[in-house]
Amino acid sequence: MMEQANPQAARVTLEGVTKRFGQTMAVDNISLEIEPGSLVTLLGPSGCGKTTTLRIVAGLETATGGKVFIGDAEVTHLPPNARDVTMMFQSYALFPHLSVFENVAYGLRVLKRPEAEVRKQVEEELQLVGMPGMGERSPSALSGGQQQRVALARSLVMQPKVLLFD
Ligand SMILES: Nc1ncnc2c1ncn2[C@@H]1O[C@H](COP(=O)(O)OP(=O)(O)OP(=O)(O)O)[C@@H](O)[C@H]1O
Ligand SMILES: [Mg+2]
Repeated sequence: MMEQANPQAARVTLEGVTKRFGQTMAVDNISLEIEPGSLVTLLGPSGCGKTTTLRIVAGLETATGGKVFIGDAEVTHLPPNARDVTMMFQSYALFPHLSVFENVAYGLRVLKRPEAEVRKQVEEELQLVGMPGMGERSPSALSGGQQQRVALARSLVMQPKVLLFD
C-alpha cells in the first residue's frame, strides 16, 4: 500500500475475468479489487496471463468473460482512450524525433491544452522524476534509466486514474 499521491486515483475491480485466445486460456476467471492509490504486483510464471490482465484493464484486449470496473464505472467494453488509464510497456518507446520536453508534452498537445499549462505541467513532471532542465535533450542522448523516467513523466502528466507497468 502507498499513500494516495494522485487524487485522481481510482479503484480497479475485476469480476471473474477470463480471456481466451483460441484454445489458450490466457486469463482464467480472475477476481480482484485494488484500492485507489495502492500499489499491487501481479507475480507468476511466464505465460500465466500477467500482461494480458494489464491489457484488459487498459482496454487493449477485450475480456472473453467477466467485468472490469474503474471506480464505479464498468469499462469492460470501452476503448482505451475512454478509460483514464495509462500503461508503461517494457520497451518504453519514446518518440525518437521529439525532445524530452515534447515527449512528455505529447498527451497534453493531443488534448490541445494551452501552452502555458503544458510548460508548467511538463516542467513539474520532469522535476518529479529527477530530470529538471533536461527538456531540450534528445531521447538518444539519455541513459536507459533516464529514458525510463521520461516515459514515467509522460504517463504521470496525464494524471491517469490507473497506471499500469508491464
Ligand atoms: N495475442 C495472443 N494470441 C494468442 N495467444 C496469446 C496472445 N497473447 C498472449 N497469448 C498467450 O496467453 C498466455 C498469457 O500470456 P501473457 O503475455 O499474458 O503472459 P505473461 O504472464 O505476461 O508472461 P511473461 O511473464 O512471459 O511476460 C500465454 O500462453 C500466451 O502465449
Ligand atoms: Mg508479460
